[in-house]
Amino acid sequence: MGLLRFLLVLIPASLSAVDAFAPLSPALLSSPARFSTSLYAAAEIQFVKGLEEKVVPDIKLTRARDGSSGIATFKFKNPNVFDASTASSGAVTGMFLVDNEGELSTTDVNASFVNGKPQAIESTLVMKSPEEWDRFMRFMERYGEANGLGFTKAG
Ligand SMILES: *[C@@H]1O[C@H](CO)[C@@H](O)[C@H](O)[C@H]1NC(C)=O
Repeated sequence: MGLLRFLLVLIPASLSAVDAFAPLSPALLSSPARFSTSLYAAAEIQFVKGLEEKVVPDIKLTRARDGSSGIATFKFKNPNVFDASTASSGAVTGMFLVDNEGELSTTDVNASFVNGKPQAIESTLVMKSPEEWDRFMRFMERYGEANGLGFTKAG
């Protein structure tokens, strides 16, 4: 699976903590448990309902220091939702983060085009309370787990 680059920016700029997703150690990745990942794939991202987006995005998080609000920005390069066999880019109207707790969604989703062909998707999810932030982070932990990515917290 891909590397989930995950960057947390706290505003105002006096940074004291950085959260990051990083691949699990090779030892963990080659353990037998890895092969049951799909059984535990309890979190996925969809652009078309029911269709898993398998491309792992770059994610940037910005959070107000008092926790009152936050923004997650996602960038997907060549997402599989653009595959001719799956769906037309015109069908993309939202991004859905689905896990065993339910669904988070945003309609702030843009596709970028090169020579008339869709190349990338950028989307943002706005969190308006500490509760919404915590809910998003629970999704991210599950998503990291489902994709074989470790979650590390520093600072
Ligand atoms: C999408 O495009 C609109 C209009 O250009 C812009 O206001 C918005 O910030 C963009 N959203 C993302 C996630 O790039």
